[in-house]
Amino acid sequence: MDKKNIVVTGGTGFIGSSTAWLLAQSGYTPFVLDNFSTSVKPEKSLFNLIEVDLSQPDEVTKAFKKLPQIHAIFHFAAKALVPESTEKTWDYFHNNFNATLNLAEAATQFSVPYFIHSSTCAVYGIPQRIPISENSPLKPETPYGESKRASENILQQFSKWKGLSALNLRYFNPAGAITGSKCGELHDPETHLIPNIITSIHQNKPFKIFGNDYSTSDGTCIRDFIHIKDLAQAHLVALSFLETQPQGTFDCINVGKNQGVSVKEAIKTAEKVLGVQCKVEVHPRRHGDPAELIADTTQMKQKLRWQPQLPLEAMIEDHWNFIKGRIS
Ligand SMILES: NC(=O)c1ccc[n+]([C@@H]2O[C@H](COP(=O)([O-])OP(=O)(O)OC[C@H]3O[C@@H](n4cnc5c(N)ncnc54)[C@H](O)[C@@H]3O)[C@@H](O)[C@H]2O)c1
Repeated sequence: MDKKNIVVTGGTGFIGSSTAWLLAQSGYTPFVLDNFSTSVKPEKSLFNLIEVDLSQPDEVTKAFKKLPQIHAIFHFAAKALVPESTEKTWDYFHNNFNATLNLAEAATQFSVPYFIHSSTCAVYGIPQRIPISENSPLKPETPYGESKRASENILQQFSKWKGLSALNLRYFNPAGAITGSKCGELHDPETHLIPNIITSIHQNKPFKIFGNDYSTSDGTCIRDFIHIKDLAQAHLVALSFLETQPQGTFDCINVGKNQGVSVKEAIKTAEKVLGVQCKVEVHPRRHGDPAELIADTTQMKQKLRWQPQLPLEAMIEDHWNFIKGRIS
């Protein structure tokens, strides 16, 4: 088996494209499977690219028939806009659940031993304890979070009954861009904090703070940010870990920094990095926004023997450089 062939689903989106780039840099051969539903189809792709709607079983089988022997599936493809998921509930379950189910089946049929799935801290909902460990209760607050929990369950069943070795990486808040990769965060609409702060500064428009009356040190929500370069690297480390484990291993691991940053702190850091003031407007809290989300990263450090390195300043600077590269 060629160890180097990796299927990267959603490999034209933010996290998938960055990880595909790092895989290629690290000697692997990525095969990107995407339907460009939340990304832009590249005119010329750096990687092998197959257009496929992963929610359709026949399309997935057809795509895998075209591929060489695959060593691992890195499954990033999903609909991932939390507010949208409350409106388009069917779409979120149909897309995210079926894509994972079809890929787990393809892994079985085409003898792919390893599977790494993009899960999320949204599976915890509003946590009772901070930092959040992997054995905290799973109580997603949204259809998006539920669709990810359901995807985790599918993989657990395929591990148990089909011998698939699967890891769910529960990301906290990825941000930034990998220098030289030309990949970065471009969601439409953008719901994430760092890109929205930078857009506000760049366009000289007020940044909307949703709630300044939380029971946190400065009243604004606290999140745990991780640089996309670190997050992409976590996938390579996770694959190396899975390769050392017995076949049929199943696990869930938080991937964050175990460091809380408030919305106001993120704004101040962006002002420092960009050297420009950010106008702000305070709005009421949004329904379902937890006050604080910080990863307990003990499992990540113990099992993967790895931890993220890059600071918030680098996430902001690298995202800004990515945006500047696109507008210049
Ligand atoms: N960005 C975050 O803050 C964050 C946090 C936690 C977890 N995640 C998870 O990480 C993964 C990647 O997130 P992202 O920010 O890169 O999202 P993204 O929207 O930038 O990329 C998702 C990609 O998946 C593709 N896709 C979606 N449905 C598909 C289907 N049925 N068939 C084929 N391709 C399909 C899209 O076209 C897109 O290229 C998602 O699973 C998301 O739930 C993201």
